Amino acid sequence: MSTHRIECSVNGEGCSVEHVPARRLLSDFLRDDLTLTGTKRGCETGICGACSVLVDGEVVKSCLMLAVQVQGREVRTVEGLAQGEQLHPLQESFMKCGGLQCGYCTPGFLMTSCAMLKHNPCPNADEVRHGLNGNLCRCTGYTQIVESILEAAEKMRETEHHGN
Ligand code: FES
Ligand code: FES
Repeated sequence: MSTHRIECSVNGEGCSVEHVPARRLLSDFLRDDLTLTGTKRGCETGICGACSVLVDGEVVKSCLMLAVQVQGREVRTVEGLAQGEQLHPLQESFMKCGGLQCGYCTPGFLMTSCAMLKHNPCPNADEVRHGLNGNLCRCTGYTQIVESILEAAEKMRETEHHGN
């Protein structure tokens, strides 16, 4: 099988990996080549959303994308959410509101909601639920996840407001 050198940006850092097989999945590239194991492998068929990451700011399921497709692009994973010791507002609100239990689905929910709030910084509960339709959670029953996202959205708007 042919192999490729992949050069891209991951969580703001340039990265270059040689000999990546043409058929390597982005999820495997992130986890196995870059040891960014925050991105989870679940169904590997595009259903559960555990593998969700951002590519050029848009949420993608990394089990449905090939690593070669991120050549020259910007990838953001859950490891890139916190700023040093400072958790992202979504991470804080998921902890505070009980938006996670086992946590397996959480990286995917965080990345999906990150993209969601970028497109719609002031969603209502229905819009949040709709935005989460590609992510499955077996533990929480979703209510606290929706609450977490609404609370984070409010915090982010406040910060934005005070920053202006
Ligand atoms: S592992 Fe990618 S959608 Fe489930
Ligand atoms: S917290 Fe366990 S699957 Fe969502």
